Amino acid sequence: MSENLKIPQHVAIILDGNGRWAKLRGLPRTMGHTEGCKAVEQTVRDCADLGIKYLTVYGFSTENWKRDDQEVAALMALFRQYVKRLLVIANEENTRVIMIGDRSRFDDDLIEGLNRLEEETKENTALTFVIALNYGGRDEMRRAVTKMAEEVKAGTLDPSEITEEAISAHLDTHGIPDPDLLIRTGGEFRLSNYLLWQCAYTEFYVTDLLWPDFTKDELKKAIENYNGRERRFGGVLKP
Ligand code: IPE
Ligand code: IPE
Ligand code: MG
Repeated sequence: MSENLKIPQHVAIILDGNGRWAKLRGLPRTMGHTEGCKAVEQTVRDCADLGIKYLTVYGFSTENWKRDDQEVAALMALFRQYVKRLLVIANEENTRVIMIGDRSRFDDDLIEGLNRLEEETKENTALTFVIALNYGGRDEMRRAVTKMAEEVKAGTLDPSEITEEAISAHLDTHGIPDPDLLIRTGGEFRLSNYLLWQCAYTEFYVTDLLWPDFTKDELKKAIENYNGRERRFGGVLKP
């Protein structure tokens, strides 16, 4: 593999395949999620090491509440444990953590943990690790439209000021550049309601690897593949 990689500024990941990984080994699905958390941890370190500036990972979608109660409860227990662990890793890796999605549906202690994680890492400057929890692209847009409608009603926003930039500024990802590369593990070719607005011109890379098996080598393979793309934007080369 070539070591002369041109590193994208923002890599987004749909981590998929935890359940299948566990099933292949005759283990409960939740064991797949535990292993998946370890792979997230390692990926944060690998991205910091490669000089990637933004990593956005899809941890739990607005649709994932439909899974059976036991699996949802196990995931919440894992998130509780991992917000604490992430605080240590983020500070070791000079990484700022930001959560996108609607945190209001989580229990108070998890909300507090997420707030603390953001607050205590906000001065870190190497990598920005964006974690999407109770996130759905449609729900994010719905919340942005509600905010803009309230501003119009209050007289602080004129409908003529609703530009693409203004919409971006009302999304959870405000201030974060759009992803350059989207990686999906688990082999499915779909967005599953992830970053619908932000991925308008993102390059996709799909691998059959199941998320707990994801490694730095696979990350580099995705970047190498991305380096071979001619990024076009409306028919002209993307600046
Ligand atoms: C992704 O793995 C993790 C979450 C969505 C929380 P899955 O749990 O979707 O694993 P598969 O797709 O069933 O194998
Ligand atoms: C996407 O995975 C959501 C997350 C990775 C959090 P899913 O397994 O939930 O998506 P679908 O059902 O295959 O589209
Ligand atoms: Mg899945």
